[in-house]
Amino acid sequence: MAPLLTGQEVAKHNTRESCWIIVHGNVYDVTEFLDDHPGGSKIILKYAGKDATAEYEPIHPPDAITANLPKEKHLGPVDLSTVAKVEVRITDEEKARLKNVEARPPLSEILNLHDFEAIARQVMTKNAWAYYSSAADDEITNRENHAAYHRIWFRPRVMRDVTTVDFSTHILGHPTKMPIYITAAALGKLGHPDGELNLTKAAAKHGVIQMIPTLASCAFDEMVDAAVPGQVQFYQLYVNKDRNITKKLVQHAEARGIKGLFITVDAPQLGRREKDMRMKFTDDEPHAQKGDAGVDRSQGAARAISTFIDPGLSWKDLDWFRSITRMPLILKGVQCWEDALEAYDRGLAGVVLSNHGGRQLDFARSGIEVLVEVTRELKARRGLSFPNEKFQLFVDGGVRRATDVIKAVALGATAVGIGRPFLYAFSSYGYEGVDHALNILHEEFTMNMRLIGARNLGEIVPEMVDASNIGSHIVSVPGDELYNSNYVDMQHAKLRKAPSAAKL
Ligand SMILES: Cc1cc2nc3c(=O)[nH]c(=O)nc-3n(C[C@H](O)[C@H](O)[C@H](O)COP(=O)(O)O)c2cc1C
Repeated sequence: MAPLLTGQEVAKHNTRESCWIIVHGNVYDVTEFLDDHPGGSKIILKYAGKDATAEYEPIHPPDAITANLPKEKHLGPVDLSTVAKVEVRITDEEKARLKNVEARPPLSEILNLHDFEAIARQVMTKNAWAYYSSAADDEITNRENHAAYHRIWFRPRVMRDVTTVDFSTHILGHPTKMPIYITAAALGKLGHPDGELNLTKAAAKHGVIQMIPTLASCAFDEMVDAAVPGQVQFYQLYVNKDRNITKKLVQHAEARGIKGLFITVDAPQLGRREKDMRMKFTDDEPHAQKGDAGVDRSQGAARAISTFIDPGLSWKDLDWFRSITRMPLILKGVQCWEDALEAYDRGLAGVVLSNHGGRQLDFARSGIEVLVEVTRELKARRGLSFPNEKFQLFVDGGVRRATDVIKAVALGATAVGIGRPFLYAFSSYGYEGVDHALNILHEEFTMNMRLIGARNLGEIVPEMVDASNIGSHIVSVPGDELYNSNYVDMQHAKLRKAPSAAKL
């Protein structure tokens, strides 16, 4: 066996002309890869000759480097005892954050999904919070996604013996204990070292389906390997300009047992998420550098990782998808009835009415509003009724309560995707957080099914909701101050006193 490389040897290769880095105890010669790195060369050069694992980990699947670098550039393991530690300066801000982590309330004090967000805001790193919470432009659509549910009210039925209620159903023919699924969100390890695996585990325990993202921080195979026998997973696909790469991903997903392919169609270019972008204006990285292979890192984590997405994707590509896979195809990000109808006419298995959590086109309407027009027009034009097994409608964006989901089901959705709440749950509490979030939803479902008078999802019918105001786009203005000043805000779960502070 060749002798281990030493840290001193690696440290000599710290220039653009010869650039070695260490990731997970192995040395890689990335000199020729610098200009092909989707996140730009500058970030790699910052770690030239050093251990880059901590920076690499949250934003790449573990196999990204081995898969993208030719074998001869894998230089072998390094003796980690000889590698100088990359100095981490703990700022006052970071100290305050760590205190907040210590002061998290126990999960028993987390009463709803909003609570996770309130705690996450205080315990996540600034970068992670910015990436997860940000949305496009003025974030109007982001807020509208949730607000739209406030324009739908219930018409409950009574006297129906609701001793037992059952809210299980099927998505694309696969059972789920609740009419929800965990939707795809990139970069899980920004929030927690176990990243998306927290979701895989919790989905198994609760009998719900996880949609695995193309841009997960965990390796695809890790998430499939972590699933329990029979656990159903879907795959979210960003279509690569290089169709061979896409073909490989899709066929690998199918071979590993993935049950549905959700092709994201609302992101030919990633939206400008300004909170995320502002995170890049740090002292050591004041602006994008010339010669950084055209990648402007001031655009935030999202843009840096997404330059491969093909803006040329079109309806014509669907035949090609059919030629490479037998998985059901669903378009994720449909935003009007015309495109839903086209998807139906072209024989797809369904559509997700979504605006990507408000992260793409600002002033895109909420999925729940689009649902109302899609069911109306597909009924009028093709005689369809919903929920419909052959062509399933899904909605995501702004869902925070079981009542939101029940409204969507009443209006014809098969199931609803939930994104940020689960990210905030694992960012604040790891796996237990996601477990608790799903318990909360379960309890909310049981209670609200009883209160609306439905024993199963089939009994949740359009007549149980009044959605007549769904299209009223009320612009919220800062103030009816007389009203607002009388209103006492609801309170979120609160941090506890940090133990150290309590002793003083
Ligand atoms: C941090 C974050 C990352 C996301 N990453 C992806 C992605 O990689 N692919 C995708 O199709 N949608 C992605 N989405 C959109 C979600 O799948 C979903 O449409 C949205 O989060 C739903 O809104 P909600 O977060 O209010 O539940 C992401 C959303 C968030 C918040």
